[in-house]
Amino acid sequence: MNAMTKPDTMRSTIAAGHNLLPKPDLITVEEAKAMDVARLTDLFKTHLNPGQLHFMKLLGFHKIKIERAEGMYYIDQNGRKILDFFGGFGSLAFGHNHPKILEARKKFQEEKRQEIAIAFMSQYAAALAHNLAKCSPGELDMVFLGSSGSEAMEAAIKVAERAAGPKRPKIVYAENSFHGKTKGVLAITDGALYRADFKVTDNTVKVPFGDIDAIERAFRTDPEIGVIVLETIQGGGGIVQAPAEFWTKLRALCDQYGVLWVADEVQCGYGRSGRFYAFEHYGVVPDVTALAKSLGGGKAAVGAMIAKRDVYMKAYGTPKTAMIHAMATFGGIGEACVTAIEALNVLYDEHLIDNSAETGAYLLERLKAVQAKYPKIIKDVRGKGFMVGLEFHDFSQTLPMVLRPVVSVLDDKLKGSLSGFVGSLLLRDYDVLVAFTEYNRNVIRLEPPLICQREHVDRFVEALDSLLSRGIVTIVKDFVKSQMS
Ligand SMILES: Cc1ncc(COP(=O)(O)O)c(C=O)c1O
Repeated sequence: MNAMTKPDTMRSTIAAGHNLLPKPDLITVEEAKAMDVARLTDLFKTHLNPGQLHFMKLLGFHKIKIERAEGMYYIDQNGRKILDFFGGFGSLAFGHNHPKILEARKKFQEEKRQEIAIAFMSQYAAALAHNLAKCSPGELDMVFLGSSGSEAMEAAIKVAERAAGPKRPKIVYAENSFHGKTKGVLAITDGALYRADFKVTDNTVKVPFGDIDAIERAFRTDPEIGVIVLETIQGGGGIVQAPAEFWTKLRALCDQYGVLWVADEVQCGYGRSGRFYAFEHYGVVPDVTALAKSLGGGKAAVGAMIAKRDVYMKAYGTPKTAMIHAMATFGGIGEACVTAIEALNVLYDEHLIDNSAETGAYLLERLKAVQAKYPKIIKDVRGKGFMVGLEFHDFSQTLPMVLRPVVSVLDDKLKGSLSGFVGSLLLRDYDVLVAFTEYNRNVIRLEPPLICQREHVDRFVEALDSLLSRGIVTIVKDFVKSQMS
C-alpha cells in the first residue's frame, strides 16, 4: 500500500516523517491476468512445482494459458474453446462461472456481509447446514464445514473415531482408495506415491474394495475395529463400483458389529452419479459422509462432513467436547457458504441431477458403441451418471517392435498406457480435455459438468472416435512427434 492510497485511519496514526516500509516487487491483479505463457511457466517452475511441469510438458498442457471459462468450456490465450470433460475431477457440476452463482456472490460482496464465522453465529453457515441436512437421507443432519475434501474426510474419521470410542480405534479402508493427502487421511489413502515414506497412523486394516467376505472376516476377528471408510464409487482407483448387493450387506454387517460406516462422497456425490449421494442407488444410509468439490459451485472452496445426529452427539455433543473439532478459521466462511447455498438451489432448480442420470447414460451408451468399434483398443467402459471411466488395453506387448524403443524413452507413467497419448492428442487436435487416473494409468476419467448436454457428448464421442480411427501406431507416432515440436 503506498502513501497515496492508505486509508484515513492509518494516515492519522502514522507520524509525519515516519519511514514507511518499502513495497516489495509485487505483481498486481491486472498484471497476473495479463502475464504470458513464458512468464507463467517461469513462475510456476520457480515458486510452485518444478517437477509437475515435467508432466505438463509431456501432455502438452504447458503451452496453454486459460483466459476465461464459461459453461462447458475453457478459453485459452488464442481464443480456442476447450470442451471440459475433466470437470476438475468432479468440482464443476455447474460448469464454469454459472451466472446465478456469480450473481449471488456479487450481491453478497456489494452488501458488505460478514465473512468469518468464529465470534458470532453465521446465518450463512446455519442455512447451508440446514440445506445439506435436507439433501441427505435418514438421520444425516449434523454438519461440519471446511474448505476441502481432505478436511471434510479428516472431520469424518475424527467424528467416527470418537463415536466408536477408545476401545475400538481401528479403521478399515479399501485397496486403491483415495481420501485426500493431509496427514490423517493419508493413513487410509492407498497410494504409494502419496504415502511416500511418511509415518502414518497404523490403526488401519486394508481390505479389497467391494469384498464383503474380507470385511466380515475383519469385523469378526478384530473387535478393535470401530470404523470403515469407503468411497461409494472409487475415483482415483479408476471409476470402480462394488456390486449393488455389497452395500446392503455392508450396512447389515456394520449394524451387527456396531461399526460406523463413513461414505466418502467427495468425488461421486453431489449428483455426479445421478443421485445426490451415490449410496442412494443402493437404498442404504451411512453413519457419516463427506462432500466437497462441486459443493462450492465451482467458485468457492467448501467441504462438508455430514453425520448422523447420535454419532455427532457422542463425539462432540457436550459443552466439554463441543470445541474438540469445531470449525477452523475458514470453516463456514460467508461468501463460500452463500455460494454453496445458491449452488444447491441451482442443482435442483435446473434438474442437474436428473440430467446427470439421463445424459450420463447417453454418454455411456455412446462410449459402449465406440468400444464395440475398437475392441482391441478399449477394454472397458463403466460408470454411473457423469462419473465415467474409459479403460484402454495395456499395449506394451502389442506395439510393433520398431516403436517400442521410442516409447521406452518416455516417462514411466506413459509406457504401455494409451491414456496419456489419447488425452494429450484429444487436447491438441480436438480441443477436448479429459482426466487421467492416479492408480490405473490405463483409465481416462470423464467427469463433465452436470450441465453437459447431448450435443457436448456427441462432440466428445466424435472426437474420440476420430482419434482412435488413426490406430494405435499412428496415435503413438503422433504423440511422439508432438513431444519434439
Ligand atoms: C474421494 C475423494 N476423497 C477426498 C478427496 C480430497 O479432496 P481435496 O482434494 O479437496 O482435498 C478427493 C479428491 O480428489 C477424492 O476424490
